[in-house]
Amino acid sequence: MERIGIVSLFKEQVLARFEWKAAFCVGDNRVDEQHKKIFDLLAAMHRDIYSDDANHAVKSTLKELLEYTKVHFTDEEDLMRSIGYPGYAAHKALHESLMDKVWALYMRSNESNTDLAIELLVFLNDWLVNHILEEDKAITAYVRESNKKAPS
Ligand SMILES: [Fe+2]
Ligand SMILES: [Fe+2]
Repeated sequence: MERIGIVSLFKEQVLARFEWKAAFCVGDNRVDEQHKKIFDLLAAMHRDIYSDDANHAVKSTLKELLEYTKVHFTDEEDLMRSIGYPGYAAHKALHESLMDKVWALYMRSNESNTDLAIELLVFLNDWLVNHILEEDKAITAYVRESNKKAPS
């Protein structure tokens, strides 16, 4: 399949993909608001891929996305520490490994490469969806369980 074919197929199929959905709600307002903003930035990066100045726009939005994601990860790690979350170290390691991987890709992305941008976008989206549903929801489930056990 020609590249243009892949790009237009991608555009058709995944326009609805980069959206925060109610199913991603973890039940902590701050965390949920930050997740929403991350998905807004994914959607912005998706639009950038099809803009006239795609190379520059993608790189600039990706940088903003990575910086904001780092802020979010730090806030989430502070939250885990403040509640004595037992999975803190493992969860933090997942955050760090994602940041290392994506920053390395960002540093290498000097050339115009729509396919790489699309791959990265899909990878980030899927990583975040899985991470929110499995790991982030486990934090708020732990808070709820702790509250149930706490003497009233
Ligand atoms: Fe997380
Ligand atoms: Fe998160």
